[in-house]
Amino acid sequence: MLWNGVIDKYRDFFPVTDSTPVITLKEGNTPLFKADNLVKVINPALEIYLKFEGANPTGSFKDRGMTLAVSKAIETGAKAIICASTGNTSASASAYAAKAGIQAFVLIPEGKISLGKLAQAMIHGARVIQVEGNFDEALSIVKKISEKYPMVLVNSINPFRIEGQKSASFEVSDHLGEAPEYHSLPVGNAGNITAYWRGYKEYYDAGRIKNLPRMLGFQAAGAAPIVLGHPVDRPETIATAIRIGNPASWKGALQARDESGGRIEAVTDEEIIEAYRMIASLEGIFCEPASAASVAGVIKLNREGYFKEGDRVVCTLTGNGLKDPDTAIRVSNVPIKVKADIEEVEKILGYEIYSAHR
Ligand code: F0G
Repeated sequence: MLWNGVIDKYRDFFPVTDSTPVITLKEGNTPLFKADNLVKVINPALEIYLKFEGANPTGSFKDRGMTLAVSKAIETGAKAIICASTGNTSASASAYAAKAGIQAFVLIPEGKISLGKLAQAMIHGARVIQVEGNFDEALSIVKKISEKYPMVLVNSINPFRIEGQKSASFEVSDHLGEAPEYHSLPVGNAGNITAYWRGYKEYYDAGRIKNLPRMLGFQAAGAAPIVLGHPVDRPETIATAIRIGNPASWKGALQARDESGGRIEAVTDEEIIEAYRMIASLEGIFCEPASAASVAGVIKLNREGYFKEGDRVVCTLTGNGLKDPDTAIRVSNVPIKVKADIEEVEKILGYEIYSAHR
């Protein structure tokens, strides 16, 4: 069966009708990897799976929600969409607007989004506005603008975004044949953890799964309002995607945590980078720093003895590492430079001994 995107696949779970035009880039159907190398290092008694959302068409989970948000916007005759973003929402909004033939306007915090994400918005033809402020300030501006002008807001306050994003829970459930014991996610604006929890509950209610996971959410320590219990005025973290001080779906995140009996905690930038490197070097998956917060959190809880033997833990890797090559280069070994000479290269490789016998 050809894959035609999440609306086509899970139509019954979405507020669409036959007259809803479907704007899709064939998002979804992303791989779920069993992280055998990672568990050897973390805890061989666990089963860890990685849901790689970087395999979506614009390289992040945002596409799942954007297909629905933009399709519904087109259904109501919209000619423009607008969002604030730490980068991925703007990349996705720009691409789906291009596909739909409408204009995207995106507000981003100046100097605080990764280069790849900025490039995406620009090449897809969005009007990119860099705000001298943070994500939270940009979000409050676009909310007001969308109330004043004929532009559809496509941040996750738009209910169709969360609706579409819940499709990831369906896929995990379909893949495993049941829900895992735990599902771990990075938390920024908190839309995604809200969406996943809703997705699991709906699948449960529909009789597709017989259990529900405990939801685990992880914020960066310098941007951890939910953990602290109050907004953070100046959020800071290397994981710019989740550099958010006042999440729009705060309540949804608390509900996911409390109804499921899960946890929302903070991980430091050091823990995030350690996990980011481990995922890449042990599993061959290049995710972005924010994505690694899901694994960093699981490593942390595991150290505290939180899990029991045989637990299945799914970690969502929300975005593709190629979006942020600067961070990858910054935290990796510097490449060695040599003359264009085979003996020089052999020396570096440690094979110079063989060349003596040639
Ligand atoms: N991971 C990545 C790669 C993200 O881009 C985001 C959010 C999150 C995790 C957190 O998800 O907000 O649903 O809790 N990015 C938004 C954006 C804020 O503008 O692209 P959340």
